[in-house]
Amino acid sequence: MVEIRLMTINDWKGVEEVWKEHEGTNPVDDCEEGFTRYLKRNPTTSFVAVDGEKIIGTILAGHDGRRGFFHHVVVAPEYRNHGIGEDLVNHAMDALEKEGIQKTALVVFEYNDLGNGFWEHIGFTTRPDLVYRNKYVK
Ligand SMILES: CC(C)(COP(=O)(O)OP(=O)(O)OC[C@H]1O[C@@H](n2cnc3c(N)ncnc32)[C@H](O)[C@@H]1OP(=O)(O)O)[C@@H](O)C(=O)NCCC(=O)NCCS
Repeated sequence: MVEIRLMTINDWKGVEEVWKEHEGTNPVDDCEEGFTRYLKRNPTTSFVAVDGEKIIGTILAGHDGRRGFFHHVVVAPEYRNHGIGEDLVNHAMDALEKEGIQKTALVVFEYNDLGNGFWEHIGFTTRPDLVYRNKYVK
């Protein structure tokens, strides 16, 4: 049976496996150090879906005191379309609400039809009036 529980820094190996196998990782942040730093800053808002001991889904969620933000919302292919992705999102939304956060955002590649279909279906609207910009700190 699949359950949702809080993600902890001890989950790194299992989380990394899911990201590498089913989604892809970002060389800037997706190392054990970056993962640990994120969870230390955001200890109550990220969740894993587990089948027994095995991690089969993740949501990395946090906030900056103003907006919530999601990264790595992923469910292993054999577990998809059973409500697990939405359950992960709902757990993160509830945890953010408890911290006083009223709005949350995420970035999806335009070509990711699976991801965009999911977000649209569960009520995450697009903002075509905005342009996403970023820059390396150094
Ligand atoms: C996106 C993803 C996390 C969805 O997980 P999931 O567990 O299959 O989703 P759920 O079963 O919780 O779906 C919830 C609802 O959304 C719908 N849905 C799911 N994917 C959908 C899609 N691509 N298009 C339209 N509806 C979709 C489901 O049918 C369900 O609807 P219902 O409640 O009315 O029956 C999963 O497909 C995934 O891991 N994709 C690869 C990683 C990725 O692209 N992540 C998002 C980018 S940030």
